[in-house]
Amino acid sequence: FKVPQPSNEITLNYTPGSAERVYLENALADEQNVTTEIPMYIGAQRLSTDVKKPIVAPHRHQQVLAYCNYGDGTHATLAIKAALDAKKTWEEMPWEHRASVFLKAAELISTKYRYRLNARTMLGQSKNAYQAEIDSACELIDFLRFNVHYMAEIYAQQPPISAGGVWNRTEQRPLEGFVFALTPFNFTAIAGNLPCACAMMGNVVVWKPADTQIFAADLIMQVLLEAGLPPGVINLIYADGPQVGDVVFKHPDFAGIHFTGSTNVFQEIWKTIGNHIHLYKSYPRIVGETGGKDFILLHPSADWQAASTALLRGAFEYQGQKCSAASRAYIPASLWAAIKNKLLNDLSTIKMGPPTDFSNFINAVIDEKSFDKVASYLSEVANDDEAEIIYGGNCDKSIGYFVEPTVILTQDPYYKTMCEEIFGPVLSIYVYDDEDFEDMLTVIDHTSIYALTGSVFAQDRLAIAQASEKLKNAAGNFYINDKCTGAVVGQQPFGGARKSGTNDKAGAMVNLLRWVSPRTVKETF
Ligand code: NAD
Ligand code: ALA
Repeated sequence: FKVPQPSNEITLNYTPGSAERVYLENALADEQNVTTEIPMYIGAQRLSTDVKKPIVAPHRHQQVLAYCNYGDGTHATLAIKAALDAKKTWEEMPWEHRASVFLKAAELISTKYRYRLNARTMLGQSKNAYQAEIDSACELIDFLRFNVHYMAEIYAQQPPISAGGVWNRTEQRPLEGFVFALTPFNFTAIAGNLPCACAMMGNVVVWKPADTQIFAADLIMQVLLEAGLPPGVINLIYADGPQVGDVVFKHPDFAGIHFTGSTNVFQEIWKTIGNHIHLYKSYPRIVGETGGKDFILLHPSADWQAASTALLRGAFEYQGQKCSAASRAYIPASLWAAIKNKLLNDLSTIKMGPPTDFSNFINAVIDEKSFDKVASYLSEVANDDEAEIIYGGNCDKSIGYFVEPTVILTQDPYYKTMCEEIFGPVLSIYVYDDEDFEDMLTVIDHTSIYALTGSVFAQDRLAIAQASEKLKNAAGNFYINDKCTGAVVGQQPFGGARKSGTNDKAGAMVNLLRWVSPRTVKETF
């Protein structure tokens, strides 16, 4: 079978008076009026525990959206057992039937659950309607559809030569054991994609989402089951990460981890896996997309208006909590006055508040830990001679975790906010002498400990060519004259190297290949 090339899901714009706006407002009302109790999904069971953990809205932290049944390491043990029990039937199912489950899930999200899933993402992760739409609707649907398309291509790939009297073939076996999907708070699409990409290749999965993403994760799980996913193929549990890790990484059937999250956590996990390597039947697949410190570089020939808009959108959409967010910029002195004027002016027109008010561009950061981290950076900068806050800088966690969009100007391109991942609505800017463009390329490469996304704005082709070459290892997703966020599945496969991850591009064939173990068969007649 061939799976036809999908097209990207169309983004709805939720303009006032549109039908989609009404549906979304109704879904927001429904999701807030009923305090849901969220079970864990282990095998065929929807499991309750004694610990009912409140899930709150980051923009109104006294508002309980749901209670989730929170577990511990014992639930990881149960989930692994359920996964291994489901394994034989699932991996023996012809792949086109597995494919259908995920295509149906995409269809259900597109046509039936779109507004509820967006509402849960808006409320639980504090995203405005547009940010939720491009994440939990479009990107998640695209991940499912494009991955199924690539999956079919993988199964069709065969050795090109079989000499006379011989038939050479490749069988794509699932991994021997179970896969652990450990997912982040910031994208519902990524949270859904990580377990699904593994499962569609015939694997069974234990999925542990971030505590702050459970509200939407629960609905994805309901959709998958409605789409026909057999119980036990993906088991969704909620518990402290290290407690789950302690069980998973000591299990002999642990076959791989599909992770997205912070660099430190991934490095700890890698070490733990290394320490237990003698326990496993096979070398586990380790796939992780991790932190970022993404840049926008302007050449003196840049279209400064386009670049200014890219700075605003790249740095501040979803409060700077995209792994791809522009958090540092390098601007030539000749363009600085114009950019500063436009950027600060545009910032003064954007509103901050809860996502339920559709006019708010900026919502809350995810939780108190994140708020405190950003606030601590801002208070250090306020007391530092090497940098100044030229816009924003105020934080308030009395009602929700709100941080004003903040612009920092520094005279030191190696200043801490130019190098460290803050993960909030904070953009640091270094203004350079126009003739130092090439030096800036060296500085950016040296400070790119992370290498996820980056942009260059220039009209001068030589400058573009120089930046592309000298920064070739500084970003896994490199943009020319565009913002560094918003990669689209099927168009810009996403992922970074260095401390940003193993660069196994999400939503691409290369990623799915990590979840199979090929067997080569030579048959002689
Ligand atoms: P996180 O690392 O705090 O958490 C990720 C997951 O790991 C969560 O499920 C969490 O509960 C779990 N976890 C945390 N500590 C653990 C431990 N010691 N053992 C086992 N599990 C543990 O990340 P986050 O705050 O949810 O997400 C933000 C981070 O993710 C940022 O650094 C961002 O750059 C990164 N990110 C990267 C990409 C990418 O594609 N490169 C995409 C999205 C997010
Ligand atoms: N697709 C998301 C972005 O590029 C991760 O911003």
